[in-house]
Amino acid sequence: MNGFHEDELQEKPIDLHIFRRLLKYARPYASLMVFCILLLMVVTAADLAQPYIVRSALDGYINAFKIPYLEVPQDKVPPGVHPVSWRDKILVRKSDLSQVPQGATHYRIVEQDGKYYLVQNLVAENSNVIIEAVNGEIVARQGEKLLKAFPLDRDELNRFRARDVEGITRLSLIFLLILFIRFAVNYVQVYLLQYAGQNIILNLRKEIFSHIENMHLSYFDKNPVGRLVTRVTNDTETLNEMYTSVLVNMFKDLFLLLGIIIVMMRMNFRMALAALSVAPIIAVATVIFRNKAREAYREVRKKIARINATLSENITGMKVIQIFNREAKKFDEFDRINWEYYLATMRELRVFAVFRPFLDLLFYLSLSLLIWYGGPRVIRGTLSFGTLYAFVHYMGQFFQPINELAEKFNILQSAMASSERIFQVLDTESPIKDPSDPVAVGRFRGEIEFRNVWFAYEGEDWVLKDVSFKVEPGETVALVGATGAGKTSIINLICRFYDVNRGQILIDGVDIRNMRQSDLRRQIGVVQQDVFLFSGDIKYNIRLNNTEISDERIREVARYTNAHQFIEAKPNKYDEEVTERGSTLSAGERQLLAFARALAFDPAILILDEATSAVDTETESLIQDALEKITRGRTTIIIAHRLSTVQHADKIIVLHKGRIRECGTHEELLEKKGLYYKLYLLQFKENR
Ligand code: UTP
Ligand code: MG
Repeated sequence: MNGFHEDELQEKPIDLHIFRRLLKYARPYASLMVFCILLLMVVTAADLAQPYIVRSALDGYINAFKIPYLEVPQDKVPPGVHPVSWRDKILVRKSDLSQVPQGATHYRIVEQDGKYYLVQNLVAENSNVIIEAVNGEIVARQGEKLLKAFPLDRDELNRFRARDVEGITRLSLIFLLILFIRFAVNYVQVYLLQYAGQNIILNLRKEIFSHIENMHLSYFDKNPVGRLVTRVTNDTETLNEMYTSVLVNMFKDLFLLLGIIIVMMRMNFRMALAALSVAPIIAVATVIFRNKAREAYREVRKKIARINATLSENITGMKVIQIFNREAKKFDEFDRINWEYYLATMRELRVFAVFRPFLDLLFYLSLSLLIWYGGPRVIRGTLSFGTLYAFVHYMGQFFQPINELAEKFNILQSAMASSERIFQVLDTESPIKDPSDPVAVGRFRGEIEFRNVWFAYEGEDWVLKDVSFKVEPGETVALVGATGAGKTSIINLICRFYDVNRGQILIDGVDIRNMRQSDLRRQIGVVQQDVFLFSGDIKYNIRLNNTEISDERIREVARYTNAHQFIEAKPNKYDEEVTERGSTLSAGERQLLAFARALAFDPAILILDEATSAVDTETESLIQDALEKITRGRTTIIIAHRLSTVQHADKIIVLHKGRIRECGTHEELLEKKGLYYKLYLLQFKENR
């Protein structure tokens, strides 16, 4: 019942081999993924463009009044440049002129107390210009110098700034357009990526299931249900997350980080150095965090595995717990594991609780560095305000992928663990294989022969020792013997759920290892002691998806095997729903249903493994009656503890500790006064 194994919880390093194999699954969608990466480049470019545009708006337009104006004669205005006419003068922005005309008068706009003035001959921009009135005349004082200043009214100011307003409007539209494109591209990208991811795991789930389906039975002895279920569901989902949120988005993060570094370096190298001076600390912190997080993560996985195991075992065994009044004890057990899980989770949370705020701290540290370094330069005019703004914005973007690093790291970690487990399943090959050149077999006549068969489930623990016998076509043979004698093992070998270690099993003279498994099993009908029913209705459970079996045939075999009566008594008759494992039917009813199922497939060989042990006398007589009918004309092997059931068999084989002790008819064996005789006497006494 344990869904996990300690060995599965070992740390999984990011193994290149596994990674390459994961990429192989993505190959059919490689072009789609590359396309997604291209789209992500567009998204990244849009992200990088945003601060850039704001910077242009700030420096190029909003703060553009700081650029000086030159007085130019009308005929010297360069083509394409819109001059500002102020009073009787023609003024042109200095940045619009390729060369400054000799002796041209400079003007600069200066703002003071919300009013704007045009100051003549203020060449260098300087913040310590003070506008004041001297002898009723408005002047600009710059230290000792007095310069002419002209107040600008609203109308004049608007004329000076008309082109800036226009420019800002244009930039806003571009900004909006970029936002819209980013949204659309992002939508398409997310959709395509999820499409690819879901398809990859859809196929992977198919592959795992069909692989499990064809696995030899001993595999299931070693791999509990819970574990295999996790492979198909949780583990594949983890992989999807890896494909969609890590694999492709890794490129985006990389583009963004590189893009930001390049743009910042090109904008202002020294500022970039100041901003990125925290990068080494980030790197060190990330490495430390990575190690701590991995430890904590492993601990949490271990505990959750234990919770899962305890839960599934206890819920499955609830009946036993209640019968033996173990509730309180079991609760204590669960409580302890639950508490340990809680502690592990808290430990993991603490690691995250330090990392995230620490990154925040670094972020604000880098901001203060920027302001400390850039602020004075903006005031002195050696750095534009727009650039400072852009740096602040870029740093915000820079920290985003780093913040998400923790999460992505976790995803990658669990994806590695999951994929290793999935590959473990896929790499387990069934030792029972179809031959490369199978013998074509038609319908069996039904001759079964064991030739010196030796068999062990594990190593040299022989379960069957040198077993030889022959069953003629149409014969009914009974296998009797104590518990653990090896009766069921013989059946498992005939169905080739396991292969013999030594010797041979022949059907109609052909070694079963030379036949296709499907050819072999199609002709063998087995009724086991614990009948397995699937969720679905009764009809479905008899037919088992075989569309060749008609409804009439189902009714026919049900009537033949005496299952009809109880089915008819159900409210929905043949459409009655059966819950998983058939717990809503009684053991006897399940048994009758199993007979019908075996007969519906009309097997050449019928095997009944203690099929009559769990039913009342009335049902047993029904089953006996059914038995007699369905064994007619086909080779039948019956295993039964109740010797009364096997008396009429053509041959009785007595097994003892894996060896055949006696063989013969009921009468012959009684005559022999051997093991069978002793068994018979014991049961005879009981029944008297
Ligand atoms: P069988 O399952 O063949 O015994 O196991 P049986 O004769 O049918 O017994 P009953 O009457 O149903 O009780 C034979 C031996 O093989 C071992 C068992 O422990 C038993 O000792 N065995 C069985 C395995 O080692 N592995 C298995 O998967 C099944
Ligand atoms: Mg058995």
